[in-house]
Parts: sequence; C-alpha cells; structure tokens
Amino acid sequence: MAELSFLTAVSDSYDTVAADYLERVPPPSEMDPLSRAMLAGFAELVRMAGLGAVANLGCGPGRVTAHLAGLGVSAFGVDLSPKMIGLARHAYPNLRFTEGSMTALEMRDDDLGGILAWYSTHHTPPQWLPAVFAEFHRTLAPGGYLLWGDYAGNERLQPTHGHGRPVSYESYLLPLDRMVELLDQAGLVLTARLEQEPGGRVNRPHACLLARKPERP
Ligand SMILES: C[S@@+](CC[C@H](N)C(=O)[O-])C[C@H]1O[C@@H](n2cnc3c(N)ncnc32)[C@H](O)[C@@H]1O
Repeated sequence: MAELSFLTAVSDSYDTVAADYLERVPPPSEMDPLSRAMLAGFAELVRMAGLGAVANLGCGPGRVTAHLAGLGVSAFGVDLSPKMIGLARHAYPNLRFTEGSMTALEMRDDDLGGILAWYSTHHTPPQWLPAVFAEFHRTLAPGGYLLWGDYAGNERLQPTHGHGRPVSYESYLLPLDRMVELLDQAGLVLTARLEQEPGGRVNRPHACLLARKPERP
C-alpha cells in the first residue's frame, strides 16, 4: 500500500502527546468494568483456541498489551508512533513492541491467534478501513479472534489539540452497524457486540465488537 499521508499526521501527533497520554489516560485497572470484561473474555477465548499470539495494533504506551499478558495471553504491540513504542519498551522490557501500521502489517498470513484493535482505528479515514480489516483477516489464523473497541457515532473530528498538545490527526466516528458491515465484508464473523452509552472520561458512546475468522472447511 502506498505511503498514506494520514499516517504521518497520526504518528507525529502521537509522538507529540505520548508522555501526556500516559499521564492523563487511565490504565486498564481503572477502565470501565464492561470493557475490562470484554478484554478478559477475549483473552480466555484466545487462550482456549491456542492458535498463537495476540497482536495489539495501535498499542500506544503498552499498558493494554501488558494487561493481556497478565491474563495469560502471549501478546505483543505494534504502533505507528516511535515515541509510544519507546514508552512501551521502557515500561515493559519483557514484552515485544514494534513500529508498524495496521494498514500494512508485517505478519505472515494466518499468523495470529488474536488481534486487539483498542481505540486505534478511529484515526483511519473510512475509505481505508476495508484495507485495515482485510489485513486483520489476512493475518489472523482460521479460528482466531478480533476484539475491536472504540467510540461510535457519525462524525468527523478535526481537533487542534489532544491531551493538551497540538495535533494534526483527524478522528472518524462511525455508526456501529457500519463497523459490523466492515467486519462482515472482510470475512470476519461477528460473535458479540457491546454498546455503551456516553459516560466516563470521554463522554461519547463506545462499543466493542468480537469477531472470528472462520475455520477452513
Ligand atoms: C487513542 S491511542 C490508543 C492506544 C492504546 N490502544 C490504548 O488503549 O492505550 C491510539 C493509538 O493508535 C495508534 N495508531 C493509529 N493508527 C494506527 C495505525 N494505522 N497503525 C498503527 N498504530 C496506529 C496511535 O499511534 C496511538 O498510539
């Protein structure tokens, strides 16, 4: 895939906000209980399926990757932002974190037991989401699980600041039914959906979708 200009904006912006993000965004231990339950259920399903490691795509400073590892899953992180990857490596030297983009993953076909995309796809312009979900499908092993969590809505946001710093990324909030459609079009089968009303630190509706790549016939 050609170098995409939005990736530079996302990477540069998260480099700028990385340290503040770590200070301001609560760790998984302070996440809402339903989101934590989805992460725990995902970890258990991945462990039971025994198909390989989980890639946390858009892992930020690594805390959710470490949370998954604490739930007994072999997990590693990938993020566009070198600063985020630096923070993750510093905090969790025993886990693997690499720079990369979910638009063009370096993993082989059928490589992963699970993919976590946790509040990391909303910076991808909607026209590129089919390519991202195609990458998820390509790299998941048959029977492997995807857990997607993010804000829902129908809005394009162009903030000038994030976490108190200047940013140039945009955010695209899509209706949950559109996300379900994208999963389906990529060949991933929806297993569960959780929709949460606005509340908490970011007062927006948010949701989780759990999907599975079908086993080979
Ligand atoms: C809101 S933060 C969430 C971080 C982490 N998932 C968490 O919950 O703490 C979004 C992260 O996704 C990363 N990201 C956005 N688009 C990406 C892409 N195409 N490939 C890899 N990482 C990406 C950003 O660099 C940023 O670190």
